[in-house]
Amino acid sequence: MCGIVGGVAERNIQEILLEGLRRLEYRGYDSAGMAVLDASQKIERRRRVGKVAGLAQALVDEPLAGKVGIAHTRWATHGAPTEHNAHPHVSNDRVAIVHNGIIENHAVLREELIQLGYPFVSETDTEVAAHRIAFHLDSGADLLAAVQRTVAELEGAYALAVISLADPERVVACRNGPPLVVGFGIGEHFVASDVQALLPVTQRFTFLENGEVVDVRRDGIDIYARDGRRVEREIHTSGLSAGATDRGQYRHFMQKEIFEQPYAISETLEGRVHSERPIAPGILGARAEDILPRVSAVQIVACGTSFHAGLIARYWLEGIVGIPCLVEVASEYRYRKHAVLPNTLFLTLSQSGETADTLAAVHASRDENYLARLSICNVPESSLVRESELVLLTHAGPEIGVASTKAFTTQLVALMQVVLLLAQYRGVNSEKLQSFRQQLLHLPSLIEAALKLDPVIMRLSERFVERGHALFLGRGAFYPVAMEGALKLKEISYIHAEAYPAGELKHGPLALVDADMPVIVVAPNNVMLEKLKSNLEEVRARGGELFVFAEAGVSLDDGPGMNVIGVPSGAGALTPVLMTVPLQLLAYHTAVFKGTDVDQPRNLAKSVTVE
Ligand code: G6P
Repeated sequence: MCGIVGGVAERNIQEILLEGLRRLEYRGYDSAGMAVLDASQKIERRRRVGKVAGLAQALVDEPLAGKVGIAHTRWATHGAPTEHNAHPHVSNDRVAIVHNGIIENHAVLREELIQLGYPFVSETDTEVAAHRIAFHLDSGADLLAAVQRTVAELEGAYALAVISLADPERVVACRNGPPLVVGFGIGEHFVASDVQALLPVTQRFTFLENGEVVDVRRDGIDIYARDGRRVEREIHTSGLSAGATDRGQYRHFMQKEIFEQPYAISETLEGRVHSERPIAPGILGARAEDILPRVSAVQIVACGTSFHAGLIARYWLEGIVGIPCLVEVASEYRYRKHAVLPNTLFLTLSQSGETADTLAAVHASRDENYLARLSICNVPESSLVRESELVLLTHAGPEIGVASTKAFTTQLVALMQVVLLLAQYRGVNSEKLQSFRQQLLHLPSLIEAALKLDPVIMRLSERFVERGHALFLGRGAFYPVAMEGALKLKEISYIHAEAYPAGELKHGPLALVDADMPVIVVAPNNVMLEKLKSNLEEVRARGGELFVFAEAGVSLDDGPGMNVIGVPSGAGALTPVLMTVPLQLLAYHTAVFKGTDVDQPRNLAKSVTVE
């Protein structure tokens, strides 16, 4: 969380940094700030509580002028989201620093620095890094050496970017956990938390590894490993364009991303799935052919929406491939011992590829007896991708809305590809496999059809605006779909929403049901339908109002207490993917009616690079 951007430019850097912050705002939006080295050799700083737009206004009122600078958008961890806790932080007006992550030993360092006479004005952990760098500069180090020495003293997971009056032509940055990219311009160079932040100024990037420090100057950059050795790094050209992150005709990024799903799914299928031939193991990388035939169990680890994708995949892996599958949230997985079955594939799911808990789980998996690590991810340059032996990229394109939509459905499509690959090796009937491939290929057009429900769902959503709570029900693979629907609603509309397997209703949640409790039900036309209908009657009998998303062919009639929304049929095993779409629309429109900040809901961030 938190976004950082900095650089040494050929021109005034204010607008470059500001645009970078706008593009990084998904990482946190509690406060924003910028510091530049101006022509009179002073560090000038502007900071504002709240979103980047507030800082932009401050910069209209009082512009900054300078070619070297750093900027930050914050997701508060240590210290409330106030202006004095906003970054950049300074030490004696000579050093300015922006920081993403957590410095775990800040309390001890703070005490030492107070003894040495350094004044603290914030409650952040960041300020200790600013003062330690100043301390090393005071002892005669240049900025690069001062940052290197400081990094050796800091514990935790963090990325920093630093400027100093002592060395006014440089930005020195480092990475120890959260991501940091270096952007190569013409006669100017930059660092940022992600590639998108720098796309307006360059498409050429390299990526820092953990423990590395980069010295950014106008004439070039140098990267140093933890031991001080200089390292050479390849430059990658990004295929993304600056416009890939525009909202276009849509009112919100989330809305755009919901409607992009047919295309995003087609992209994730492109070149990998054909009706007439099996899926090639090579889509997971060169080692897949050796690893996949040996897989006899799968451990899935993920967070948030990605975790829900894993829960759905479990039904597919056990139901189609016939191998055991465990699914766990990464923050739990990383802190306990596991009994790993022989030949288990460790599968992580992550939109960003930078989620701290998921990465830590990958690290923990190395001490356990896994066959290999496979990651399904939307960001090719991410840490997760670089740390996995096998990779399957979702080609969802950048997802900006904090509530994940197209990243989720493309993860499911990628997961089904993995399921089919494993099924191929376990001798599952080839006609059956072909029908799954046809279902995958048919999915974009079915989602297109489901999106046509938009006006109907919009009208329905108005009825949720005054509600404080909602229950979501599903059975089998549709229970995680219900969980995802509940998560979407609570994330962006702030309505308390819970999901239950419909059969569990009578074991507790039924006590909550009355006329004020909307109950949203995912009703596929499958063998569990009659059981599900009995569960609906239990709700109806208690005066609860039902909103049933029913697959075509499910015989349920609209009536008092019963609202039926027909969803197209024909998705087969992929019906959970299809059923997710109307639930996304329900959450979206409810949030719009409530007037919440749909793309940047309170207290959340898109990329969670802290524990
Ligand atoms: C945050 C985001 C969610 C996301 C979760 C996991 O909480 O707001 O949308 O599902 O992190 O992120 P990942 O990038 O690992 O999928």
